[in-house]
Amino acid sequence: MNKPIEKFQADRARARDAGDPMAAVCVLATVDEDGRPEARTLVLRQVEDDLALFMHTSSPKWQQLQHGGSINTYWPSVEIQYRMHFTTLPIDQAVVAASWQYRPDTPKRMDWFYDLKQAQSTPIGSRDELKQGLDSLSLPQPITAPKSAGGLLLKPTMLERLDLNELSGLHDRRRYTLVGVEWQEEVLVP
Ligand SMILES: Cc1cc2nc3c(=O)[nH]c(=O)nc-3n(C[C@H](O)[C@H](O)[C@H](O)COP(=O)(O)O)c2cc1C
Repeated sequence: MNKPIEKFQADRARARDAGDPMAAVCVLATVDEDGRPEARTLVLRQVEDDLALFMHTSSPKWQQLQHGGSINTYWPSVEIQYRMHFTTLPIDQAVVAASWQYRPDTPKRMDWFYDLKQAQSTPIGSRDELKQGLDSLSLPQPITAPKSAGGLLLKPTMLERLDLNELSGLHDRRRYTLVGVEWQEEVLVP
């Protein structure tokens, strides 16, 4: 059978062509050190043949993802949900740095803030303290990516596709599992 990621890419392309804003993002789930699930929205990127996520390595999710993770997508335009489990591979720093240059100014400066002031997702006294901290950074000129800007390639081990398009309302749900180098398909009770 074709790799299920190709089906994912084709469905995502249809959603994108339909102008679906959700086609650009995913919900990333990880588990924190206390075993509590954490979910948040991330841009779902494409690096050559692989899906990819970009983030600052000071965020706890960077460490959490070293043990793998899970993403969820739902595209209302085509009424298809995917769930995906994956392992990760770090993206070459030169590739991260090149892509980083396309970020808007404030996110670029924030990446340096995480590096020089305090980590992403930590509490800060006030918005004013944050703004003053951001304004007082001494940044490289021209600005380049800090080494702590990170990216991960997603290497899927399981995809589940839920298609809500069946006119009868009997949704089509299938799970694809990587066994060795082969993908196995199972039909699931929806
Ligand atoms: C539409 C959207 C896109 C986002 N894209 C990213 C992203 O690509 N990378 C990222 O680190 N955070 C992104 N965020 C912010 C994350 O959802 C999250 O707030 C932040 O990364 C902190 O996560 P943490 O608590 O796991 O550290 C995005 C948020 C939204 C709403």
